[in-house]
Amino acid sequence: MPDAHIHDAVREKYGAIARSVGKTGCCGPVACGCGDAINSNLYSERETQDLPADAVAASLGCGNPTALLALEPGQTVLDLGSGGGIDVLLSAKRVGPTGKVYGLDMTDEMLALARENQRKAGATNVEFLQGTIEAIPLPDRSVDVIISNCVINLSTDKDAVLREAFRVLKPGGRLAVSDVIVRGRVPADVRRSMELWVGCIAGALEEGEYTSKLQAAGFSGVEVEPWRIYQVEDARSFLTQSGLDVDRLAPEVEGRIASAFIRARKPEAV
Ligand SMILES: C[S@@+](CC[C@H](N)C(=O)[O-])C[C@H]1O[C@@H](n2cnc3c(N)ncnc32)[C@H](O)[C@@H]1O
Repeated sequence: MPDAHIHDAVREKYGAIARSVGKTGCCGPVACGCGDAINSNLYSERETQDLPADAVAASLGCGNPTALLALEPGQTVLDLGSGGGIDVLLSAKRVGPTGKVYGLDMTDEMLALARENQRKAGATNVEFLQGTIEAIPLPDRSVDVIISNCVINLSTDKDAVLREAFRVLKPGGRLAVSDVIVRGRVPADVRRSMELWVGCIAGALEEGEYTSKLQAAGFSGVEVEPWRIYQVEDARSFLTQSGLDVDRLAPEVEGRIASAFIRARKPEAV
């Protein structure tokens, strides 16, 4: 599929998900199938209890990037692919009124939902920006911390995303990302099938490839840490609904898809 089609498909999919938030349904908004293992149980009750219900309901991540690092009052944070805004609002509390958190998203409906959630949360140190993560609309060296939650895997140009992330970070700035990765070799046809399950892993990078791409963009101290490894049973009902032969696929995909925490730093001397 050409890159532009993937981009449009991603935008349409997340636009539809944003429109469904707050409506009653069998399982609320989901990226990867009803009750999927990827988006569930990512945040503690303590973290989400003060957030607007729709910000929590719209959570479509695959981890909790705000738990990966300490945020300091006064810092500037950027969330790549901020969706309904859950990680932006959590970060905004931690950087406080002297700090600033930007959420960047390309989908109008998600931006509208995020701005509404910002209004309900009364967060004044937050700004949601329209744009793509491949061309970040912020100046060089303007951000202390970049977070992202299950978005970089959707990009058709990950080198551009990582180059842009490096550009906007201040020297010494940090990147803390949750993303879906592939572990080892997954045959191409199986990968395509898995993509049906996790529309959200359309372009998941292999573990080592993620590290090389971050290093090529200039990052140091790169760590890729798989923390939730998916079994084929996690996706059985969705795969079956998609008309796939789950038992045939099982040996080839078992344990090969994971959610990972990715950490890296922009060196001081650049
Ligand atoms: C899986 S959702 C994750 C949303 C949010 N990070 C969360 O944890 O709930 C992906 C989001 O990234 C946005 N997105 C996907 N690709 C993008 C791109 N290339 N540039 C900007 N936003 C993008 C989508 O519009 C969607 O809101």
